Amino acid sequence: MNEPLRRTIGTAWAFRTRVEREAAERFARLGPAIASWDAASPVVALMERAAGDERRHAAFCAELAGRYGDAVGSEWPAAASIAPAGLAPREALLYEVVACCCITETESVATVATLLADEPEPTVREVLHQIAKDEVVHGRMGWAHLARETRAIDISFVSRFVPAMLSGTVGDGLFAPASAEPDEGEFARHGILATARKREIFVRTLEEVVLPGLEQFGIDTAPARAWLLARNG
Ligand SMILES: [Fe+2]
Ligand SMILES: [Fe+2]
Repeated sequence: MNEPLRRTIGTAWAFRTRVEREAAERFARLGPAIASWDAASPVVALMERAAGDERRHAAFCAELAGRYGDAVGSEWPAAASIAPAGLAPREALLYEVVACCCITETESVATVATLLADEPEPTVREVLHQIAKDEVVHGRMGWAHLARETRAIDISFVSRFVPAMLSGTVGDGLFAPASAEPDEGEFARHGILATARKREIFVRTLEEVVLPGLEQFGIDTAPARAWLLARNG
């Protein structure tokens, strides 16, 4: 493997390490917050378990980053609330759960499943496999919280915030015109999706899983669909 390719892959796994660490911190905060007004919610224990899963994922990703020559530091990002100002605390928490679980974790499941289907190297495969089985549970945890909140509060506010959640989930580059990327197959062997492929999977999962999921709870997805149309045509 040439040096620039190795560096790109190492950087990608180091980035994933930070994402996993941030998720661990976020879930560790969300569990007790939910317990403060809904102690009987099964999501409280799921959040605690998910925080542990993400710590484990972070360790796997850091180990892989190291193999590709990118030493990840020991710093853990703080996971401050991503909810916009002006929401009541319970609404702000629902915002975070929808953004991080219903959207991000569901998208992550699709990405990791695609990567696994591409027959990556054995070590990469093992890490992706470990991550995949947990992310499925983390996505469900979000839908379970949304279902529970539907019965407790008015969740219609979520509709107008889905575009902001989507913008927060995908990097700026996802919908940018594709630049030439190195060998897609080589990338996939090391657990990285080329941008065009990543975009295709993101959009398909959004249209087939995430938006219909939100609609099941009566959330109007017109703003989200407009967001997508403006970017993806
Ligand atoms: Fe994870
Ligand atoms: Fe997760």
